[in-house]
Amino acid sequence: MSGSTLSSRPAKSAGLPATYVTASGLPRYNPLSQALHWLTALFALAVLPLAWVAVSLPPSELKGTMFTLHKSVGLTILAIVVVRIVWRMIHPAPADPAAPKALEVIARINHWLLYAIFLVMPISGYLLSAFSGRTTNYFWLFTIPGLEKNEAWQKSFEAAHIVGQYAVYLLVALHIIGTAWHLVIRRDGLLERMLPVQDGRGMR
Ligand code: HEM
Ligand code: HEM
Repeated sequence: MSGSTLSSRPAKSAGLPATYVTASGLPRYNPLSQALHWLTALFALAVLPLAWVAVSLPPSELKGTMFTLHKSVGLTILAIVVVRIVWRMIHPAPADPAAPKALEVIARINHWLLYAIFLVMPISGYLLSAFSGRTTNYFWLFTIPGLEKNEAWQKSFEAAHIVGQYAVYLLVALHIIGTAWHLVIRRDGLLERMLPVQDGRGMR
């Protein structure tokens, strides 16, 4: 990461322990926010291929297994995102790094839409499955009950789930492109804000 002197907005980073400030002086996200962020990213990278494989397989035991994994990982994402939102309300994000105002606003909208879509997708997924009268098996550990069969609701949530995937692709792609822009073009150490301390600063 570059040692560029681009600074965050002043004041908010003042008084932070050294471990919360990156090499280029930006305030970091707190360790729990970082851990939850990378857990979401990891599970998001798993839930999509599981869905692609599950929908493409002919009816078989393997298809059922892929769906159980898809649904279980999806519900885990739901739980993590709810915890993230609550944690985020208690612990606001560190001050934004200096960037053109319009890009700052786009980044903020992108973050809130990411939270929103990662709520919409698991909820619509559960409901489309539940309204088809199915129960949901969570990692073969326990069973989440379904709902009374309702074809109209099932079709609506199925449509939301299928269309919603394109919002996931778009928002995650924009998010990663934005991070890459900070990393490669601006070289302002932004990625470090989401990473734990690596240079031992602030350690005894
Ligand atoms: C972050 C969470 C989730 C994401 C990003 C996601 C994404 C996807 C994607 C991309 C597909 C393939 C759609 C297609 O092209 O046919 C899919 C299908 C499906 N998902 Fe999810 N999903 C999530 C959570 C869940 C959950 C929690 C459940 C159920 C408990 C679920 C149930 C289903 C079902 C039943 C299908 C098949 C739909 C159909 O083709 O009729 N999903 N999901
Ligand atoms: C490999 C993929 C990813 C990379 C490289 C990445 C990188 C980052 C970085 C560097 C930040 C901090 C931005 C800042 O300092 O202002 C961030 C924040 C954020 N990321 Fe990611 N991210 C990835 C995947 C995801 C995914 C899949 C989600 C889905 C929910 C996500 C949701 C968020 C949110 C909501 C924030 C804002 C946190 C807050 O202020 O509450 N990220 N990401």
